[in-house]
Amino acid sequence: MCGIVGYVGNKPVVDILVDGLEQLEYRGYDSSGIAVKCSDKIEIYKAEGKLCNLREELSSHAYEISKATVGIGHIRWATHGAPSVVNAHPHTCNCGKLVLVHNGIIENYKELKAELEAKGCKFRSQTDTETVAHLIANIYGEVKDLTKAVHLAAKKIEGAYALCIMHNDEPDKIVATKRNAPLVIGLGEGEYYIASDVPAFIKHTKQAIYLGDNQVATITKSSIKIENENMLEISPKVELLPWEPVALSKMGYKHFMLKEIHEQPDIIRNILVGKIKTSDNNIVLDEVNLTKDTLKNLNRIQIIACGTSLHAAMVGKYIIEDFCKIPVDIEASSEYIYRNTVTDKHTLVIGVSQSGETADTLTAIKQSKARGSHILIITNRPDSAMAREADSLLSVNAGIEVSVAATKSYIAQLTSFYLLALYMAEIKGTMTSDNLKKIKSEMLLLPQKIEQILAHKEEIQKCARKYANTRDFIYIARGINYPTALEGALKLKEISYINATGYPAGELKHGPIAMLDETMPVLSILMNGSVYEKLLSNSEEAKARNARMIALTNSTDEKLNDLFDSIIRVPDVMELLSPLIAMIPLQLIAYYIAEFLGKDVDQPRNLAKSVTVE
Ligand code: AGP
Repeated sequence: MCGIVGYVGNKPVVDILVDGLEQLEYRGYDSSGIAVKCSDKIEIYKAEGKLCNLREELSSHAYEISKATVGIGHIRWATHGAPSVVNAHPHTCNCGKLVLVHNGIIENYKELKAELEAKGCKFRSQTDTETVAHLIANIYGEVKDLTKAVHLAAKKIEGAYALCIMHNDEPDKIVATKRNAPLVIGLGEGEYYIASDVPAFIKHTKQAIYLGDNQVATITKSSIKIENENMLEISPKVELLPWEPVALSKMGYKHFMLKEIHEQPDIIRNILVGKIKTSDNNIVLDEVNLTKDTLKNLNRIQIIACGTSLHAAMVGKYIIEDFCKIPVDIEASSEYIYRNTVTDKHTLVIGVSQSGETADTLTAIKQSKARGSHILIITNRPDSAMAREADSLLSVNAGIEVSVAATKSYIAQLTSFYLLALYMAEIKGTMTSDNLKKIKSEMLLLPQKIEQILAHKEEIQKCARKYANTRDFIYIARGINYPTALEGALKLKEISYINATGYPAGELKHGPIAMLDETMPVLSILMNGSVYEKLLSNSEEAKARNARMIALTNSTDEKLNDLFDSIIRVPDVMELLSPLIAMIPLQLIAYYIAEFLGKDVDQPRNLAKSVTVE
């Protein structure tokens, strides 16, 4: 979380920094700020809240800053200290000559702060970051060399960080470093861009250097020098970014989330193209380096992920076990990394992440890699830190997802899991050809079915409004759609702040049923198949406690009208593929409720799209 940018060159820097920050707003929007080198000193401008507040602040200083060509900027997702101007970056030291921006968490900041206070440093903010500003400034006072001071400070810091630093005594220079947080440097003609992520500068250059952990880059407009942690110069690898600048436009939709929901049919089509040619052909998955032998020697699979990606992983478990007969464990990455997890070379470890940057998942992946497991990464960002750890990389190709609430990346992850499970089943010979054929031909029909749901979105909107003024919401399902219930509830929580929970319907009677009364909406994901009758009985049990009953179903059974107050019907689909269909109305329900309540749909409070702190 948090996004940092920097620029050294000949162009006016302010717009470059602010436009760059706008591309990084998905990383946080609690506050923002920039520091730019003006005639004889570095000036800092900050604002609480969204970037538009910083733009407004800058407009009243347009003249002073118009000539600046070097600067750094930051967009914050608050970890230490409330979202406020005083806690906003850039931070500085007591003499005000050194400024820096930081993404990450300094774990030993309390100890460092105590040492620095003892030396006379006065702290203004509650952040961990300010400690680093004082620390580097202190060392700089002795060594009088910014690059060296950064190296020496890095040895004292514990935690994760990406830092951009400027010092007034070494003007027209930015020093950057990182450990377990992303930082990429864009190379232009007589200019350099620095950012947490490529979109911040892709419209200016496609040549870039991904800075490695503990490396320190010293950048002026005419030179870049990168040193390893032993202060020895290294030759960095310059990469050509596979990115086109994307005009992030809502294309007429009120919110990015609604636009992204509508992109889903085409995303599935694009993923399937070339991978399922016809239902008679084998799945083509060249990206996956799993040979017959590796698959034969696998005794288990572990899938690690967070949030929405974890829900995709849960569906993944269901279908891999069903199709491939390999036991699969799934676990939230944040839990996985703090216990003695058993993995070895006979375990396939799958990391799932939209951003490819989530710190918990990245750490978990690194741990399992060190134990010799084959690492398969399913991500929407083939250029991410996680992708770089992969032995096999399955890129889900959903395109940039702007809305903080994941929608299209979830559907893309699910589609990729189906392809992977079918691919492994074909290699292992664990499915009959009839079954394989049936699933593949049904998969090819999914985009049309989703389009049918989207064509009737007004009915879902009407239903959503009926239940918008509720404090709580329960989603129930069984079997393969239990993760759908969890994801539906997560979507509603994230953007409407309604207390929504997903339950396996059979568990309702073991406790949660106590909460039911005439105020509680219960949405039952009632898809035809093996658990239909059981779920119907669970729905009856909820109805008997006077809950407000909603069905999401592909059943045409008229009797459902007696049991449910509202029914959302979706096209028929085979049970094994039903999570891909059932999720669409749930995304729309969450969207329409949040929109009706006037919430900030694309940038919900307290969240960030990319969670780079553990
Ligand atoms: C999704 O709507 C969320 N905002 C969040 O749960 C997200 O899925 C989670 O932080 C994991 O992110 P990742 O997929 O980028 O790893």
